Amino acid sequence: MGKIIALCNQKGGVGKTTSAINISAYFALMKKRTLLIDADPQANATSGLGLDKKSAQKGTYELLMGLASDQEVLVRGPLSNLDVIQSSVALVGAEIELVGMTSREFKLRDKLQRLREEYDYIFIDCPPSLGLLTLNCLVAADSVIIPLQCEYYALEGLSQLMDTVGLVKQALNSKLYLEGVILTMADFRTRLTGEVIKEVQGFFKDRVYKTIIPRSIRLSEAPGFGKPIMLYDKLSVGAQRYKVLAKEILSKQAHLEAKTDKAVIVDELALENENIGLETQLHRALTQAEFTEQDIDQASVGNAEDQL
Ligand SMILES: Nc1ncnc2c1ncn2[C@@H]1O[C@H](COP(=O)(O)OP(=O)(O)OP(=O)(O)O)[C@@H](O)[C@H]1O
Ligand SMILES: [Mg+2]
Repeated sequence: MGKIIALCNQKGGVGKTTSAINISAYFALMKKRTLLIDADPQANATSGLGLDKKSAQKGTYELLMGLASDQEVLVRGPLSNLDVIQSSVALVGAEIELVGMTSREFKLRDKLQRLREEYDYIFIDCPPSLGLLTLNCLVAADSVIIPLQCEYYALEGLSQLMDTVGLVKQALNSKLYLEGVILTMADFRTRLTGEVIKEVQGFFKDRVYKTIIPRSIRLSEAPGFGKPIMLYDKLSVGAQRYKVLAKEILSKQAHLEAKTDKAVIVDELALENENIGLETQLHRALTQAEFTEQDIDQASVGNAEDQL
């Protein structure tokens, strides 16, 4: 059964889409059957892979709303082993239309049930918000990757994000855990970048990937050509770094899977960060009793989302 990883940060422009595209593409190159789901109405992952967000092709919106089957929304990406479920501006409507639906937080999870069997890895590019769309992504996912831009306000909003992950874990998806943190757009000439890296590593410890993505003009140009970086300039620094990062993410899988209780992964983190105030919701989530399907359904009628 494939693993579902959501790239999530409610902060805009931190490198979610760039990371989702390029990690997916390198996973595909490493012969992993990979699916990238664009869950952002901006549809940057869609256009960044050379797909037309204005085309009639059905995508994430239609899948979520039950207007298309999981097979109808699959399109081939620019590499073999890479498929895509594209986004379109219609997805903006999902945020509103979902509100009145029962089990609204579970729509994406349910729709991905069968697709999970067809892929080794499914990456989800989340929108920059903590609304119902992101909630659906977190409920569907096994783990979360948080991209963080190496800038002064890198950690701002993080505790809100971790609280949300904790709430989802508590009420809607008890297996969810933090896969890793990617530091993006590093400018190693500045002292600030060094300080941010140190701070984030102090905060997230070994959950921060050793491979740091530098600021690179080639990385920012590639989406304009609808290509992942290795098809645009495979020798560029950005390409090399994303390749190493993808390998690092893959190599960590065995270690993560070896942990029998994945909940511990977030719990340890919460405790480590006690003095920075991240722990309360997460810790509370982990001391809750097990949930039945029925509890989850009840919780879904307005509990977690109202607290966001
Ligand atoms: N390492 C990098 N070097 C230079 N530019 C980058 C790098 N990573 C991303 N960018 C550029 O920064 C901008 C924001 O990146 P990206 O779209 O990946 O972020 P995002 O978190 O998905 O944004 P949003 O929240 O709007 O979805 C884009 O124009 C992208 O091309
Ligand atoms: Mg994006």
